[in-house]
Amino acid sequence: MRLEELAGQTAVVTGAGSGIGESVARRAAALGMNVVLADVAMDRIVAIEAQLRADGHRALAVPTDVSDADQVEALANAAYAEFGSVTILHNNAGLESLGYTWDVPADEWQRVLAVNVNGMHHGIRSFVPRMGADPRRSHIVNTCSVGGIAITPRMTAYAASKHAVQALTECLYLECAEAYPQIAVSVFSPGHVATRIFEDVSVRAEANDDVAFWRRSIQDTGITPDAAAEVLFNGLQRGEFWILTHREAFERLATKRAKVLTRQLRPDSVFEEAGRN
Ligand SMILES: NC(=O)c1ccc[n+]([C@@H]2O[C@H](COP(=O)([O-])OP(=O)(O)OC[C@H]3O[C@@H](n4cnc5c(N)ncnc54)[C@H](O)[C@@H]3O)[C@@H](O)[C@H]2O)c1
Repeated sequence: MRLEELAGQTAVVTGAGSGIGESVARRAAALGMNVVLADVAMDRIVAIEAQLRADGHRALAVPTDVSDADQVEALANAAYAEFGSVTILHNNAGLESLGYTWDVPADEWQRVLAVNVNGMHHGIRSFVPRMGADPRRSHIVNTCSVGGIAITPRMTAYAASKHAVQALTECLYLECAEAYPQIAVSVFSPGHVATRIFEDVSVRAEANDDVAFWRRSIQDTGITPDAAAEVLFNGLQRGEFWILTHREAFERLATKRAKVLTRQLRPDSVFEEAGRN
C-alpha cells in the first residue's frame, strides 16, 4: 500500500499512549489518517487526542484494556461508528516482566500473557471479520520483538509471550491469505527502542538489578520511537511480512536460534548475545 493512499483512511493503534504506539499514531495522523488511540493510560491518550485534534487531525481516544475481550469489542464498535472502516489495525500494547522464572508471581505472569498474547487475539477476533467483510485492502500489524526469536534469561514471561505472538502472527498470515486475501499481515519486531516500557515493569527485589540494567540499556542504545514508526510504515508500504528495526541483529539471532533448534548449539550461545552479560 502506498503511503499517499492512506489519507482519509483509519488506523487503530493499541498501546497508543506511549512509545512506539504513540509514534505510530502520530505518524498515521501526519499521513492524513483518522486515528483511534487505545490504551489503559486514559490520561495519555486523551492528551494525544486533544493535541492531534488541535492540529486539525481526526482522532478518537478509546480507553481500552486489551486483556478484556469486551473492551476490545467496544473499541472496534467505537472505531467503526466514528470512521466507518479500518485500514490499519496495529496490535501493539505490551508489557515487560523481569526476574527468575520461579520468582515471577502467578498474577504477574498471567497479566503479561493476558496483555501481550490474549490482547492480540481479542484484537483479531473483534476486527478481522469486519475488515474481511470490506473488499478494500487493509493491514494488520502485530508488535512482536527480537524477543520473539531470541531467548533472554530472567525475561521469561515476556519471551514466552513474544514467541507466542510470533507463532500467532504467522498463523494469522496464512489464514488471511486463505480467507481474506485483501488483508495483509505483518509482524513488527523491534530491537531496542527508547520507550518507557521498563518504567512500568514491576520492581521486585529479585529483579532490581535487571530493571536498572534494561532501563539504561534501551535508553542508551535504543532507536527513537519515531524512527521505529518510520520503519513500520516503510515496511507496510513495501508489503513486508517481517518488519524489522535491527535487521542484522535479528538475522544473527535467528541464525543462532535455528542452530539451537537443530541441536548444533546449546541455548547459552543465544544468551551471550541477547542477555545482559
Ligand atoms: N521498547 C523496546 O525496546 C521494544 C522492543 C521490542 C518490542 N517492543 C514492543 O513494543 C510494544 C510497545 O512498547 P513500547 O516499548 O512502546 O512501551 P511503552 O511502555 O512506551 O508503551 C506501551 C503502551 O501500552 C500500554 N498498555 C499496557 N498494558 C495495556 C493494556 N492492557 N491495554 C492497553 N494498553 C496497554 C501502556 O499503557 C503504554 O502506553 C510492546 O508490545 C513491546 O513489547 C518494545
